[in-house]
This record gives sequence, structure tokens and C-alpha cells, in this order.
Amino acid sequence: MLNFGRGRTQTRSTRSMSLGGMDYPDPKKKSSFVGKILLAAGLTALCILMLKQSPSFNSPSPFSHQEDGVTHVLVTGGAGYIGSHATLRLLKDKYRVTIVDNLSRGNLGAVRVLQELFPEPGRLQFIYADLGDAKAVNKIFSENAFDAVMHFAAVAYVGESTLFPLKYYHNITSNTLVVLEAMAAHGVKKLIYSSTCATYGEPEKMPITEVTPQAPINPYGKAKKMAEDIILDYSKNSNMAVMILRYFNVIGSDPEGRLGEAPKPELREHGRISGACFDAASGIMPGLKVKGTDYDTPDGTCVRDYIDVTDLVDAHVKALEKAEPKKVGIYNVGTGKGRSVKEFVEACKQATGKPINVDYLPRRPGDYAKVYSDPSKIMRELNWTARYTDLKESLQTAWRWQQSHHGGYENI
Ligand SMILES: NC(=O)c1ccc[n+]([C@@H]2O[C@H](COP(=O)([O-])OP(=O)(O)OC[C@H]3O[C@@H](n4cnc5c(N)ncnc54)[C@H](O)[C@@H]3O)[C@@H](O)[C@H]2O)c1
Repeated sequence: MLNFGRGRTQTRSTRSMSLGGMDYPDPKKKSSFVGKILLAAGLTALCILMLKQSPSFNSPSPFSHQEDGVTHVLVTGGAGYIGSHATLRLLKDKYRVTIVDNLSRGNLGAVRVLQELFPEPGRLQFIYADLGDAKAVNKIFSENAFDAVMHFAAVAYVGESTLFPLKYYHNITSNTLVVLEAMAAHGVKKLIYSSTCATYGEPEKMPITEVTPQAPINPYGKAKKMAEDIILDYSKNSNMAVMILRYFNVIGSDPEGRLGEAPKPELREHGRISGACFDAASGIMPGLKVKGTDYDTPDGTCVRDYIDVTDLVDAHVKALEKAEPKKVGIYNVGTGKGRSVKEFVEACKQATGKPINVDYLPRRPGDYAKVYSDPSKIMRELNWTARYTDLKESLQTAWRWQQSHHGGYENI
């Protein structure tokens, strides 16, 4: 486990680096050898003394204790697409944030952007760890005083989940159990859980409400539903405040252009529609493959509900503010409006100003015709409404970031 925290941890490491950079004696000059050793020892002792007298040396890390008026949120998966945007919003709203991520899919570059925006001690720390490592997770919880957890970390591609189901059950279901056990053991009382409309499967009736029966049809959706069930069972006999947010299709990026979506190139084949459109618009891919034109929808292509990431993270903050002990809130997070793949591609062409070659192919097995949400519960109970509902604008924002970050975060 590596800890790239700001504040105390970083101050110490900076100092120890300067110790490491000290001049060591030249072995050829034997006459002064002993003297130099003594000098080095003296300097080392002096440095240790200075370090010990430094106010930050003995004082505990600001992350390790509760502070009046400060809410400390553990953001798992905070180096990823949605988690990094949520961290930005939390920091802007004066929350203290610890990101835990194993960087398997996220970007250290996103964490760096956040650290540069919020460099003050006690605002943001990054801990490199795998949530499958229960011992490491326990250590993190024992060394940090969290008030709440936003659990984003997950592998999250439907197609990949059908190829590697065990990976999905392990990473999503089993790791959620690890996080929940650590929360229970360390008395952390609020959980905001990232779930998905994939837990509903292929409902007959649209729009999808929170009482639409859940019948997931792929390992991704099933693993998320199992994780939800574990959380719900645990919450029955605990005083934990739980919010489960079932997102629809997430698009867009920070309107101020600081963060974006940068999946690893090797995951491109499993990627989402916005990434595929941008790849086609920028010439990385020769075109876009649209699978299925004979669905029972207005133009024959699949219909989905696209939610902008800025609205999504707003829903998280509202959920965090309204979470109450012993209560569970389950909410769909979508716009309530279905848009067809053809509409999406049209918006993408306008947003990028590029021609996009589209190949229309037969249906892909397992795809469903229409999925869109009824968001009235979250509007009513959390006073949340989607504001970024213009597809073209959301895609324009995301495209601007893509254009200024060729190669993702690694080339900045
Ligand atoms: N993007 C969408 O359209 C969408 C839709 C519905 C739900 N969700 C959910 O939202 C959450 C975030 O998704 P995203 O799109 O930001 O994905 P992402 O891949 O960009 O981010 C996930 C992050 O979790 C980290 N992670 C994965 N496994 C980990 C582990 N074992 N230990 C520590 N860190 C780990 C990754 O490194 C990555 O930084 C996921 O739970 C996903 O299921 C996403």
C-alpha cells in the first residue's frame, strides 16, 4: 500500500529526500574520512532533531481524526471517471477526501489534477490499495477517520463481464463486502453506493422506476444487484445511513475542462458509446459500428437515458447530505428521456464538427431495445434535477477535454 498523502506524510518524505541527497565522503581522501563521517553523523542528528521539533512531526495526520465541521469522505475508485469528478465536487464543497484506488482502470493524472487544485494540508490524500486486500482496507480504516464512504470502485463493462464473470463477482460483490465489513468494524455510518440500471435487466414497462423488478441479465448487473442485496441485508440491523444510486448511461465531463474520461486503451473494445464516437471522430477508429436497426423504437436503433457526470455527482452530494441513520434510499439517476443511438451519433457529429462513418450491423445478442428512467423519486425526495440535458453540449464539453488530452492524462 502506498500513501501519496499531502500534509504530514509529504512533508516528511520531502525532508528525507534532502537527507538522501547529502554529500558522502570521498573514500580516496582517507585522512579526512573519519572527520567527514563525524560531520555526516552530526548533520543526520541535526536533521532528526529538526524533524522532531517540527510541529507536523508529532501531530497526527489531519485525516486520522475527526474535526468539527469537516466531513471526511472515503472515495473508492476516485482515480476513475466518475470518482474523480465526485472528488472535485466534494473538495469544492469543502469536504475532506481520501481516494483509495488500485489504478487498474483509473489515472494517477486525475489525482494529480485534483491535488494541484486543492494542495492545502488535510484536503485530499491518495492511497494506492486494492479493495480485494481486506488487510490493507482494514489498515486504511484504522488509520483514517472517515465519516462517509462513496463506493465507486469497480470494473464496469457489460461486455467484459460476460467474458470474465468471476472477475466481476470478485471485484464488485466481494469487494463491496470487504468495504462494508471495514465500515462496520470501524463505525463508519454513511454509505453512498454506485449501482446501475443494469440491475433491472430488460423490464417490459418503461420508464424504469425504483420498484421495477430487478432481473439483471449479465454478470455486471448481477454482481451489482448482489452487492445491493448485501448492503440492504446489513442495513436492516444496523444504524448505517445508506443511499443506493442506480445510474443510467453516464456521459460528459467537467465543464471547466479539468477532468475527463480516459479509459485504458486496451479497454476500448468494451468501451461506451461516447468513447466510440470520439474515437471515430478523431480517426483513431475508421468508423462507428451501430448494432441493430430493427428494434421497436422510433428509428429502429436502441434507446438509452444519458446522464451528464456533473448532474450525477450533484446527486451524490445531495444523497450524502440527506442520508439518515437506519434508513435506505434507492434512487434512479437519469434524465427520464430516452435518446436513440442515431440521435446520439448526430449529436456527436455536431459536437465534434467531424464526419463519422457509421456501419449499421445486425443486433448484438443481449442488447435491449429501450432503457430510460423515471427520475421523479430523486427529484421529489432529494430535490435533484438533471440540468445538463442537452446531448450536444455534454458531448462538446467531453470532446474539448479529449482534444486537449490526446493520450488521456498521461501526456499532460
Ligand atoms: N460509467 C457509467 O456509465 C456507469 C453507469 C452505471 C454505473 N456505473 C458505476 O460507477 C462506478 C464508477 O464507474 P466509472 O465509469 O467511473 O469507472 P472507471 O473504470 O473510470 O473507475 C473505476 C475506478 O475504480 C478503480 N478500481 C477498480 N477496481 C478496484 C479495486 N479492486 N481496488 C481499488 N480500486 C479499484 C479503478 O482503478 C478506477 O479508477 C462503478 O461502480 C460503475 O459500476 C458507471
